[in-house]
Amino acid sequence: MKLFIDTGSVSEVEEIAPWGVLTGATTNPSLLAAEATDPGETIRQICELVDGPVPAEAVSDSAREMVAQGHALTRIHEHVVVKLPFSPQGLAATRELVQDGIRVNMTLVFTAAQALMSAEAGATYVSCFLGRLDDIGEDSAAGLAEVINALGRSEGRPEVLAASIRGPRHAVDAAKLGCDIATIPARVLRQMTTHPLTQAGSSASRRTGRAVRSSPTGSELSPANTPASAGRRQSGQTGVRCGLRVPSPVSSSPCMARRTIVFDHRSEMRVARRTAAA
Ligand code: E4P
Repeated sequence: MKLFIDTGSVSEVEEIAPWGVLTGATTNPSLLAAEATDPGETIRQICELVDGPVPAEAVSDSAREMVAQGHALTRIHEHVVVKLPFSPQGLAATRELVQDGIRVNMTLVFTAAQALMSAEAGATYVSCFLGRLDDIGEDSAAGLAEVINALGRSEGRPEVLAASIRGPRHAVDAAKLGCDIATIPARVLRQMTTHPLTQAGSSASRRTGRAVRSSPTGSELSPANTPASAGRRQSGQTGVRCGLRVPSPVSSSPCMARRTIVFDHRSEMRVARRTAAA
């Protein structure tokens, strides 16, 4: 499943695009209005930062105006996809824009019936809202599954884009159901990077690295610096072992654990715990 960022903020895209996980971005009028910037310029900057589709929304009740706004939006940047709210007028505008060679993201799709109509009108993407369904007590995963099943796997069907994502669980559910894309707010993308055990493990690795570097033999043991490492590389041997007393990686106890430090020139360093606290 591809990941888009759901935002109206250039700085959020600047922060997260370098992670290398984004293939697009979605905006909407509320997200853009929340920033004190020119919406067109914000869309252009987001397009520059994300090397992929950027749905930007036309706001009107009339098909004719949606088509005109759609054309204007695509002039901002080649990455822009015209986002239209689902309605009979939105369907008519979709058909017209598609005939003009413009990609449309039909949004505010809550049912399989709406998704089928969007597909027939020629939409490239349908945005199915999860959080807003949950908000009214409906089962968003069941709704999304029905959309995915109804559209099937045929060539040329719209890509199903899970929107209104409120937490990592929504994103994982969307992926498990076979969704093509999830558009995710920056707050949730940050949440998706974290786990207490990941943080504990990283802190332990940093502490171990400091202990090794400050040990009397630390510099000698650097895999890049030892003459022996070249020999090991040639012979296919991968590591050298030594016993060091270093802080326990997961315990807050002040005691020190005795562990085997394994220097591995293929993967920098691996730490294997050998005995309990001394
Ligand atoms: C994105 O395309 C949608 O506009 C967005 O995900 C809606 O999210 P919300 O329900 O949190 O407003």
